[in-house]
Amino acid sequence: EKKIVIAIDGLSSCGKSTIARQLAKELNYLYVDSGAMYRAITLYFLRNNIDFNNKEQILNALDGMDLDFRLNEQTGKVEMFMNNENVEYLIREMIVADKVSEVAAIPEVREFAVKQQQKMGAKKGIIMDGRDIGTTVFPDAELKLFVTADNAVRVERRFKELYQKNPNITIEEVAHNIEMRDYIDANREVSPLRKASDAIEIDTTNLTPEEQLQKVLKIAQNVI
Ligand code: C5P
Repeated sequence: EKKIVIAIDGLSSCGKSTIARQLAKELNYLYVDSGAMYRAITLYFLRNNIDFNNKEQILNALDGMDLDFRLNEQTGKVEMFMNNENVEYLIREMIVADKVSEVAAIPEVREFAVKQQQKMGAKKGIIMDGRDIGTTVFPDAELKLFVTADNAVRVERRFKELYQKNPNITIEEVAHNIEMRDYIDANREVSPLRKASDAIEIDTTNLTPEEQLQKVLKIAQNVI
């Protein structure tokens, strides 16, 4: 059995990370959530009042930034660390979600993140999800999935997830955030969200997590 690279892309809250986690567990692969890196960079920019239009400030900020994924032995989940601080919880807050697409559209930020992502994939046996994984980060990935789901379903899923942490959140707020990120992510100049020509499309709208897993496992087993 050979180790491959699996690239998973799609719009926000389409089910990418659930599929990626499920597959990683079944195949015993490393799961890397590339969006967590853009979120951590955004958190750093917000905390340090970095002007998103000031290239010098941006480059200086990135220069002092150390991002790494560490396994939480208790939960079995990988968590995002920035300069040795566990930021996994903070990067999921709305204040970060509100700005992350703006930050992720900055070419220097993408260059910084993509370089590290490519390094992580060098040894294969990796599943990475994001927006540009099959197109830019791993254009030669042996398996590429492009995940979709109806808008209303995506909003509802994200709302349920965020509501557990913050019962004050409204469905309108979540809908607006997803709509805004979808727009920026699909229309930016550098690596906009696109389905790679060789990606397999999976619509998760009417699939249970179990059905979803069976479907992608079959696809993956054909390649591996
Ligand atoms: O995957 P998640 O929704 O956490 O990603 C947060 C944001 O990070 C996205 O809305 C997008 O702006 C950015 N992103 C990106 N490229 C990736 C992964 C995420 O631009 N590969």
